[in-house]
Amino acid sequence: MTSDHESGFGHVLRWSLRSSFREYVAALQDGEEEVREGAAIDHEGRFAMHSDPAPGDTPNDDLVLTFRGTVSFRGHGGILAVELENPWIHLSQDGGGTVSLVVRQGLRGGRRRSVIASFDEARRVHDVLLIGQPRMTSAGVAMLGDVYQPGDLFDPIEIQMNVMREHGANEPPPSPF
Ligand code: HEM
Repeated sequence: MTSDHESGFGHVLRWSLRSSFREYVAALQDGEEEVREGAAIDHEGRFAMHSDPAPGDTPNDDLVLTFRGTVSFRGHGGILAVELENPWIHLSQDGGGTVSLVVRQGLRGGRRRSVIASFDEARRVHDVLLIGQPRMTSAGVAMLGDVYQPGDLFDPIEIQMNVMREHGANEPPPSPF
């Protein structure tokens, strides 16, 4: 089978996570947001990440779209320290799905993959898959400091399907797109 990397085609995830959280961090005196390891900021200010070859440990009955990149947020003299890596979109047979990513919370926190959102509907319009209403799971709430409630909305997620990959697998995607 030919992988996305070999064929030169892949998907691009575009997501702001939760804009109000990003605006809050940006407004802190020492607030910082950083993108690295494959993540970039697109022309609309969203995080953009390219797809990554599917790892072997994902379930077979779901379609899993895997992306590579790291986003981190800092503030309040280091008390606010959240690092998010490599989001996966798990699409289930019923049209819904979940979002998981590797979370590191706090300066000494461990890293682990958590399901941070779930959704009832993913709409495909031409080459774009739109997840309009990803809702926070309790792990998603915990990831952002237990401020929101389970069921609260993250920002919409947009995935551009099968776009031509102009750069090598290990290079960050171009910015702006
Ligand atoms: C010194 C510790 C902290 C203080 C004094 C603090 C203070 C505040 C204040 C005053 C707000 C309301 C801001 C507004 O409405 O404009 C807020 C919102 C918020 N804080 Fe913190 N915070 C602290 C730590 C944290 C940590 C560790 C997190 C976890 C990542 C966090 C996540 C949030 C979130 C998600 C919001 C809501 C942002 C929104 O959507 O409007 N905070 N915080």
